[in-house]
Amino acid sequence: MKVLIYEDYKSLSEFAADEIIRLLREKPAALVCLASGDSPKLTCELFSKKAREENMDLSHFTFIGLDEWVGLSPDTEGSCENDFKKRIFEPLGLPSSQYHLFNGLSDNLEMECVVMDNFIREKGGIDLMIVGIGMNGHIGFNEPGVDFNLLSHVIELDQTTIAVGQKYFKQPVLLTKGITLGLAHVLAAKKVLLIASGIKKATVIKNAVEEPVHNLFPASIMQQHPNGFILVDVAAGSLLDKTKID
Ligand code: F6R
Repeated sequence: MKVLIYEDYKSLSEFAADEIIRLLREKPAALVCLASGDSPKLTCELFSKKAREENMDLSHFTFIGLDEWVGLSPDTEGSCENDFKKRIFEPLGLPSSQYHLFNGLSDNLEMECVVMDNFIREKGGIDLMIVGIGMNGHIGFNEPGVDFNLLSHVIELDQTTIAVGQKYFKQPVLLTKGITLGLAHVLAAKKVLLIASGIKKATVIKNAVEEPVHNLFPASIMQQHPNGFILVDVAAGSLLDKTKID
């Protein structure tokens, strides 16, 4: 794992967007997985903008969503699918044959997980994952205490996730469970970028980078990723011991 500190949110988002572009130039049929939420918002926008400006042929790549709130319809503003639609699918005109998402409304969530895991396997694994970090150290909905060996699964949401998650919705929403890729997917992905910005993320970034790897702080698993990168702006990286970053 390597830590990269950027001047601001825009420059780290530029880097992350360029990583997607670079990958798709090298491997047009790549499998890319993104989180929704605030952190990758500008990355998605810049990626869509750059890909359009460069007139890239994106007809071979496949996108998967990292997670979804259980019980929310894709039309709910603030749901992960709604985010992806607005940020990526619509701007790029991506047909549904090129993306696969968890259906949080499914009456068979276990099957949703099996289908997702098979989908990833058939595509030869995830080439690039871009994830955020929660205020409790989660990645996706891998909440504190999660089994590091899990692939896709359904999980009871942590109280922090339920409280912080309200920020995505116009009205209070009942959030209880999430469906998510597992940390085994994160470790197996060929490259992972974890992005965080703002002073509110400074403590969780310090914990993820400097504390021992432990499932009570799921993002610490990034330390074990041979091709994992933590991208932070100056504020989110402000508590890091700079003598330990090369
Ligand atoms: C969302 C997701 C979450 C967020 C995390 C950070 O799809 O997977 O793990 O990445 O909660 O959220 P933001 O970026 O809104 O601070």
